Amino acid sequence: ACLSPHKKPLTGRHALVTAGPTVEPIDPVRFLSNHSSGLQGYAVAKALAQLGAAVTLVSGPVSLTTPENVTRINVQTAQQMKEACISALPADIAVCVAAVSDWRPKHVSVVKNKKGTSSLAPIDLVENPDILRDLCHIGAQRPSLVVGFAAETDHVLKHAQEKRRKKGCEWLLANDVSQGVFGQESNRVHFITEDTIEDWPTMSKEALAMQLAQKIASFFHQQDT
Ligand code: CTP
Ligand code: CA
Repeated sequence: ACLSPHKKPLTGRHALVTAGPTVEPIDPVRFLSNHSSGLQGYAVAKALAQLGAAVTLVSGPVSLTTPENVTRINVQTAQQMKEACISALPADIAVCVAAVSDWRPKHVSVVKNKKGTSSLAPIDLVENPDILRDLCHIGAQRPSLVVGFAAETDHVLKHAQEKRRKKGCEWLLANDVSQGVFGQESNRVHFITEDTIEDWPTMSKEALAMQLAQKIASFFHQQDT
């Protein structure tokens, strides 16, 4: 009500959003990935754009259409996602919603692995860059507000509070994925900051995205006053 009726609250702000899974190749026809649908990340990008932000959406492979007024950059791997995020800076806001593959195969075969040619070789894995953590520690170009999501199956609040501190982000939205979340329409999260926890009710991913976008808008509104 106190906001100007003519200007959307995030006009002039640049928001970077990551969404979807990453896909890590094993050979030209096989990969390592996860069940992320991209729904929550795309909803966040859409909500931020609706509030007037210029949105760059760095997306792993998903079957979703790009929301209106959102610039989408397609990537496959975590390393590509990190590069695309860094190239998109500066940004005022970063919201990391992507389900980044924690590991990738150490060696990518340039030819298809054939069965029966040797004993079944194990796939060596190496850890991927942590994009959220890296964005939090990027120096002068660090977005003033960095937000992460966390998927936990147990001790949700304790793990999420530790995760927020370890990553160095201002806010973390923690969801309990023990009952499944991937591809579902609704989501239930705990909104965690340095000194508060809010339990948000179960709501659609779209509604959750709008609630988060409005929180982001009031963060910048308070900063400006
Ligand atoms: N994230 C990221 N880059 C990674 C891994 C995670 O940017 N390599 C981001 C996700 O987008 C999410 C947050 O970090 O916003 C938390 O992801 P999550 O998988 O819950 O945490 P991890 O740090 O990977 O820890 P773990 O999977 O072991 O619980
Ligand atoms: Ca992870």
